[in-house]
Amino acid sequence: MAHLTLGIETSCDETAAAILEDGRRIRSSVVASQDILHAPYGGIVPELASRRHVEAIWPVVQEALVRAEVYLSDLDGIAATTGPGLIGPLLVGLCFGKALAFAKHIPLVGVNHLEGHLYAALLDHEELSFPFIGLVASGGHTHLYHAAAPGDYRLLGRTRDDAAGEAFDKVAKFLSLGYPGGPRIEEWAQKGDLDAVRFPRSVPPRGSYDFSFSGLKTAVVNYVKRLEVRSQELDPALVADICAGFQEAVVDVLVRVSLAAAKASASRRLVLAGGVACNGRLRSKLTERAAEEGVQVYYPNPSLCTDNAAMIAAAGYPRLLRGERAALSLNADADLVLGLT
Ligand code: KG4
Ligand code: ZN
Repeated sequence: MAHLTLGIETSCDETAAAILEDGRRIRSSVVASQDILHAPYGGIVPELASRRHVEAIWPVVQEALVRAEVYLSDLDGIAATTGPGLIGPLLVGLCFGKALAFAKHIPLVGVNHLEGHLYAALLDHEELSFPFIGLVASGGHTHLYHAAAPGDYRLLGRTRDDAAGEAFDKVAKFLSLGYPGGPRIEEWAQKGDLDAVRFPRSVPPRGSYDFSFSGLKTAVVNYVKRLEVRSQELDPALVADICAGFQEAVVDVLVRVSLAAAKASASRRLVLAGGVACNGRLRSKLTERAAEEGVQVYYPNPSLCTDNAAMIAAAGYPRLLRGERAALSLNADADLVLGLT
């Protein structure tokens, strides 16, 4: 009999549920985005996010069950995100998972959202196995891990200030391009000249795999201020060039640092995850450079890069299979850490 896992993810602004068969096969994956709700504010409003999760969680779980043609009584386990993320949103998904587990006598495990992102690549690439180097680049994190085995992670480097996705979002907000910023900037950058405007790259000192993006964001702001034109009144061709130059700088740093870590590892396998991994320029540049360096790169499908519950179910599955069970006292932790530092 196949093992059916229900994944639940509500750490940020996506209400997501998925049904996974035997830890690999996605029977359904439903994501209700709150982008339109938060767009007028140019960023996520936590209280609005929590309230929308409360409204959406049951319909989203029901939709996942219907699409997978599964009844609640068929479920063998529930995996719910416990952190890191926004505390209100996290509590909605976790409490829902706990209530379902209690009412229907279904085993439950809590999952670290960052581990979920790493598992997204395993869902899409059957040939991929541990160990590997994993970069999680999202709106909240730019974390580089050595993933030795399921549950065995070591943090090699992280952003010292803004996350890569956060930099995309802040620059897009400054240029009045809308939210979320990553896809908007990528679209504008496609119309721009990569070399027209060059922004500084922050390269970590030797032996460090840390990132920094706030200086780059400030460089964009200062560049526009020097033009003495309001950002809303910039020539569209210049906006495209600024986006191309900014994106190139972020991509350059992500490629350089993550490839250096992959080259120094025995496996020479690099997994890219998180919303920023959707970026086409990042994918093409990394593919090209990795081939030169003899590193094998794995990207999840874009729908699995951004927040989803299939990745949470995938990360929870091996632990459910081993018989791990969370107590109903399991709590959410906004600052939950993954692995050793
Ligand atoms: O992983 P994710 O969905 O949520 C978090 O856990 O944060 O990542 C969202 C982030 C946002 O900052 C968004 O701007 C960025 O990923 N993003 C992108 C692209 N698509 C999403 N950044 C660059 N290029 C993209 N195409
Ligand atoms: Zn995420």
